[in-house]
Amino acid sequence: MTLVRFYKADGTLDKEVEAKPGRRLLDVAWAAKQPLEGACEGVMACSTCHVIVDKADFEKLPAASDEEEDMLDFAAHATRTSRLACQIFLTAEMESLTVRIPPSARNWLRG
Ligand code: FES
Repeated sequence: MTLVRFYKADGTLDKEVEAKPGRRLLDVAWAAKQPLEGACEGVMACSTCHVIVDKADFEKLPAASDEEEDMLDFAAHATRTSRLACQIFLTAEMESLTVRIPPSARNWLRG
């Protein structure tokens, strides 16, 4: 299991959840009621699932594809450690993953 920590845009911890390997970060975020729209549901046609990954965790993730990099160019408040949550899959080796929801995330809760 991976301990996933979601921080708010203001830097305060919002929620910690445990998730199984193989799960997509976007689905974990939705289940944890995080304000990530994920409008295209993971086909890289939007950037509304943009998250800012903790620097140490970012370095452990597989590199983003060119398509993901292109979509991140459209994301507001993108940083060097920005990723699309629909493109991150948890692995058994990941003990924890810490991400921050960017300030421009819509306050839209799924489910
Ligand atoms: Fe649209 Fe991730 S949900 S790019």
